[in-house]
Amino acid sequence: MKQWNYRKAVVAREELAEHHRLAQTLSWPHLVALGVGAIVGTGILTLIGVGAGKAGPAVILSFAIAGVICACAALAYAEVATMIPASGSAYTYSYVVFGELIAWMIGVALILEYSLVVSAVAVGWSGYAAGFLDSVGLGLPKELVNGPELGGIINLPAVFIIAVVAGLLIAGTRESATLNAILVVVKLAALALFVAVALPHFNDANFHPFMPYGFPRSGPAGSEVGVMAAAAIIFFAFYGFDAIATAAEEAKNPGRDLSIGIVGSMVVCVAIYMLVAAAAIGALAYTRFADSPEPLALILRDIGQGWAARILGASAVIALPTVILAFFYGQSRIFFTVARDGLLPGSLARVSSRGTPVRITIFTAVVVAVIAGLFPLSSIAALANAGTLAAFVAVCAAMLVMRRREPGRERRFRTPAAGLVGVIGILGCLYLFISLPVRTQLFFLGAQAIGLLLYVVYGSAAAARARAAA
Ligand code: ALA
Repeated sequence: MKQWNYRKAVVAREELAEHHRLAQTLSWPHLVALGVGAIVGTGILTLIGVGAGKAGPAVILSFAIAGVICACAALAYAEVATMIPASGSAYTYSYVVFGELIAWMIGVALILEYSLVVSAVAVGWSGYAAGFLDSVGLGLPKELVNGPELGGIINLPAVFIIAVVAGLLIAGTRESATLNAILVVVKLAALALFVAVALPHFNDANFHPFMPYGFPRSGPAGSEVGVMAAAAIIFFAFYGFDAIATAAEEAKNPGRDLSIGIVGSMVVCVAIYMLVAAAAIGALAYTRFADSPEPLALILRDIGQGWAARILGASAVIALPTVILAFFYGQSRIFFTVARDGLLPGSLARVSSRGTPVRITIFTAVVVAVIAGLFPLSSIAALANAGTLAAFVAVCAAMLVMRRREPGRERRFRTPAAGLVGVIGILGCLYLFISLPVRTQLFFLGAQAIGLLLYVVYGSAAAARARAAA
């Protein structure tokens, strides 16, 4: 059974009907760009403020902790993704290694992750877009840039940007990936500008007291604080490399392209974040930017560099859609793969003549736009993290199991000290999960319970029919 699954994943492409195959158009520069494009985003631009509110200056420590855990997961991803270069990411790896039920649960976690990241980054984009419009005298009414929990009606800019990105994806993968590469440069240049302008205003005093809220998650439900509570949110800033793995089926040379894409983009991003976080905390007392919808722009304005704030804001507005694009892309591919396996209605897995799954893209756009329009960033991001953490645990476990089960199989990328990396990855992700807000954990468990119910009443029988028909 497991062997059948493995073969299914690795030879699937040749066996698939034409209208179920994705076009192989991507090579590693596209994938590094897709990775950096997906990783650097709302986490560093906006959630740095939420994290600072929970950890104080020790948010730098939160960045380091989340980064190390994510790096372990990234290595496991690179190994497993190059062994199983099929569309669907952690869902497909779980299918191959653990079977259908666990794969279904990871599928639910991934769908939560990808859809909520799209919503969260759209809300982050809206914060910078609204700030930028304000700064040039074209501000929107508050009711139209906030959902009900923050005293508004709907976050209209967030809905708008989701519609734009959905259109790009429907127009075709290759075009979107190339545009993405250009925008990644804009985003990195903006962060470099931030560091260059903020660093001369560095003040040691802003780092004292360093850890005002302690280390473990503490505080009442709804307002959890501590270095780990911040790390559990900041974790959002680091993932995205898994969006590369979901593009596996569309890579020209999956073995080489995926390992360079995943490990390379992770290393680049960890370095950038440490610098930006140090510059931000050093330039302004964290309490001043903790709850801002555009904290980095606020810091620049506060130190008297309004021109730089405007450039940063404009760059965020132009470039943040790359993150939305990458996750949107991953989301539609996961739906696509799950549907192709028969666990969701097969009509969803149809690909248009341009090689893109149009129906899934439109369906996803509607769902994520509603979430982005109505809910606050920190809640959306926390739930996205819960899904991602579950997927990362599965991938680290898959790497360890495959090492034992099939030690002799060719691995085009081998994780160094795989045992240690796998165990740190799993334990680290579990620790981050229990550091998330209680409400988020309950939501996540509720989503899994609904997922299991769906599996029992629909998924397992449909998948059996799909196998029989194959
Ligand atoms: N890492 C991505 C971001 O920070 C999800 O926006």
